[in-house]
Amino acid sequence: MADAPAIHISELVVGFGKKTILDQLDLDVRQGEILGLVGASGGGKSVLMRTLVGLLPKRSGEIAFAADDDGRDDRRWGILFQQGALFSALTARQNIQLPLREKARLSPQLLDEIADAKLEMVGLTRDDGNKFPSELSGGMTKRVALARALALDPALLFLDEPTSGLDPIAAGEFDALIRTLHRTLRFTVFMVTHDLNSLQAVCDRVAALADGRIAAIGPLSAVLASEHPWVKAYFHGARAQMLGLGR
Ligand SMILES: Nc1ncnc2c1ncn2[C@@H]1O[C@H](COP(=O)(O)OP(=O)(O)O)[C@@H](O)[C@H]1O
Ligand SMILES: [Mg+2]
Repeated sequence: MADAPAIHISELVVGFGKKTILDQLDLDVRQGEILGLVGASGGGKSVLMRTLVGLLPKRSGEIAFAADDDGRDDRRWGILFQQGALFSALTARQNIQLPLREKARLSPQLLDEIADAKLEMVGLTRDDGNKFPSELSGGMTKRVALARALALDPALLFLDEPTSGLDPIAAGEFDALIRTLHRTLRFTVFMVTHDLNSLQAVCDRVAALADGRIAAIGPLSAVLASEHPWVKAYFHGARAQMLGLGR
C-alpha cells in the first residue's frame, strides 16, 4: 500500500444551487509530498479543501484517504484556513489547544505541555503563547494557526493561502518553516498558494485548477510549460521571471 495516494479524488462534483464549482475533478495527492494548488480567485480552491476535510458536501464522485499503518482510514488532518485564523478572545496557547480539547480528554498540564511544544515547533516562545491574537504580527498569527493545525500530529496538512498578506520576508520564513517541518515530520501537505516563490521553494508538484478541474499537474517546470489557455495566461509573467531566475 506504500504507493497508495494520501488522497484519491475521482470525478468529484461540488456545487451550490445551480452553480457547479468542481466539475468531475480528478486528483491524487501523493503520500509525503507537498502539493501546491493554484487557480483563479473564486475558482473553487477553498471549496475543494473544505470538501476534502468534510466541511462541505459533495454532489458526486469519490474521495478516498489512504489507510494508515493500522489499517484505519487516515483522517488525521490539520487545516490552516484562509480566513478567520484565530479566536480573538483566546490566547495563542488556548487557540492551539482547541483541537485537542475537541478530540481528547487531557489534563490541563498535558494540554499546556503539548501547546508549548507546538509553539516551539513553529518558532515561537512560551511567552508568545500568552498573547492574544491582537498582540501578534501577521507572521506570528500564521505560525500560531499552523501550530493549531499541527495540534493533533496530522498525517495530512491543509494550508489555504498561508503566506497571503505577509511581507516577502515573513512569507519566505513561513515557507522555510513548512519545509523544515515537512522534512522532520514527513506529513503530506496540500497547499493553496499564489506565491510563485512558495511554488518554487516549497512544492514538490503543482496542480492548476481551471474550469472546475485540474488543468495541469506536475513539477512547476512542467506546469509552466502547459499549453492550457488558463494556465498559460496565469503563468504568463511567471514564465519569463522563472527563465530569468534560472540563469
Ligand atoms: N458556502 C458556500 N455557499 C455558496 N457558494 C459558495 C460557498 N463557498 C464558496 N462558494 C462559491 O464557490 C466559488 C469558489 O469559492 P472558493 O473556493 O472560495 O474560491 P477560491 O478558489 O478563491 O478559494 C465562489 O464562487 C464562491 O462564491
Ligand atoms: Mg480561497
